[in-house]
Amino acid sequence: MPKRLYIETVGCQMNVLDSELVAASLRRQGYELVRSAQEADTILFNTCSVRQHAEDKIYSALGRLKHAKERHPEKIIGVLGCMAQKDQEQIFRRAPYVDLVVGPGQLHQIPRLLAEIAAGSGPRMEVSLDRRAGSRSEVEQSFESYDPLREPALRTSAHQAYVRVMMGCDKFCTYCIVPQVRGPEQSRPPAEIEAEARRLVAEGCVEITLLGQTVNSYKYREGERTVRLSDLLYRLHDLEGLARLKFVTNFPNDMTDDLLAAVRDLPKVARYLHVPAQSGSNCVLARMKRLYTVERYREMLDRIRATVPEAGVTSDFIVGFSGETEQDFAATVELLRHARFKNSFIFKYSPRPGTKGYELYPDDVPDEVKRRRNHELLHIQAEISEQDNQPFVGRVVPILVEGPSKVQQKQRRHSHAPESGQTLDGHAPGNSAALAEGEEAATMQLTGRTTCDRIVVFEGGRQLVGRMVNVVVYEATAFTLFGVLAPPPAAPDVYVL
Ligand code: SAH
Ligand code: SF4
Ligand code: F3S
Repeated sequence: MPKRLYIETVGCQMNVLDSELVAASLRRQGYELVRSAQEADTILFNTCSVRQHAEDKIYSALGRLKHAKERHPEKIIGVLGCMAQKDQEQIFRRAPYVDLVVGPGQLHQIPRLLAEIAAGSGPRMEVSLDRRAGSRSEVEQSFESYDPLREPALRTSAHQAYVRVMMGCDKFCTYCIVPQVRGPEQSRPPAEIEAEARRLVAEGCVEITLLGQTVNSYKYREGERTVRLSDLLYRLHDLEGLARLKFVTNFPNDMTDDLLAAVRDLPKVARYLHVPAQSGSNCVLARMKRLYTVERYREMLDRIRATVPEAGVTSDFIVGFSGETEQDFAATVELLRHARFKNSFIFKYSPRPGTKGYELYPDDVPDEVKRRRNHELLHIQAEISEQDNQPFVGRVVPILVEGPSKVQQKQRRHSHAPESGQTLDGHAPGNSAALAEGEEAATMQLTGRTTCDRIVVFEGGRQLVGRMVNVVVYEATAFTLFGVLAPPPAAPDVYVL
């Protein structure tokens, strides 16, 4: 009987991609994916350490498995990813029934480690070197690239895929744990990225999202010249069958003119830029060591608006960072109102042991103040989003269809037996749930995205998934545009502006 694998993923797109790769490598070993921990004999958690809440979630999920492990000691429980790298042996101390701990730079070892555990080796752990535990190149080598093992045929979505272009981060923002747990910044060779993209497109993938913690810092020395992210976009743009190219996440200081020009000039590149500001106060930005001032951030926004006026620009903010006064917060509100982001993700500061911020600055903003500031920013952002979505009403927008809407997926999950291997979890990119026989012709609620990353919900047949279509928008809320298919129903497969 095949071994049954369940993977639960929290965290960012990097983790979603890593889970896909882990699942693919284990399926090659004969594992089959199941949809719940109960059905599985191997349960893996791919974890995140960016905020305390993300860690708490995993420790409580582990706690819930304690009895299952007592009843079925043969079940293998593993903790992968960023929290594995951060907490290491501590995980075995807090949850002694865990069998496996593997950091994000050692994921390629998982099939071997699982086989050893099944053969009775006892608990196993593989993590990368601490950033101060060796020379730069030793540490780099201990965070190994996992992507060459990718097998496009085993990915979770037929039409969308992530491609890692960079690993790690060297920015060391004082609040952030990512540089410790993901290791030094390393750009992958362009030829490798291109080969992976080619294979994905040949397999029917129409949208590729390039991933990096600071993706626009991408730099690769090729002989005499340095390949930048803009060069990569040019290199991938003309792949036949590819409809859309995206990239996340951008660091404000690296939003160079060549990159903006590439976004403007390459029609398949989404007019969508996620460039987290984090705060609108220069004092706070300095304590965060973000390496820019609010003036410089605004100058960057001006360049974006001048070069790609239709771009959807989004941001992240942290409220309640150490020492954030009402005046600092007012400066953030001012930036938010000035920038008119399409959307913002707002987080309450969560002190992370192992960061400079944790060592240097007290967590001195009370939780109720963080909560109030969080709500206030969310409220202002929602107002802006709703206002700025209104001009779309009555317009025909080309969208790339991603799959059934969330409501539709939920209904399907209740009414059909799960198909193992279709999805890793709810986070998988645009997973287009398979339909039962005979449902081909029926219409359903679908979602897609505009080039500026606005979500559009409309009725259509499942054959539209993965295609560009034109939709007439009839209603706009803060987060969603609602539309109907515009005649003629299907636009050309490759969308040209
Ligand atoms: N590499 C990306 C984002 C990484 S983490 C970038 O530089 O933009 C995603 C977001 O989590 C960050 O943008 C930040 O807003 C938030 N974040 C990171 N560390 C945090 C912490 N300690 N507390 C609260 N939010 C945090
Ligand atoms: Fe964290 Fe800053 Fe690196 Fe982003 S740029 S991953 S916030 S250290
Ligand atoms: Fe979390 Fe690791 Fe991503 S800490 S945000 S999963 S890089």
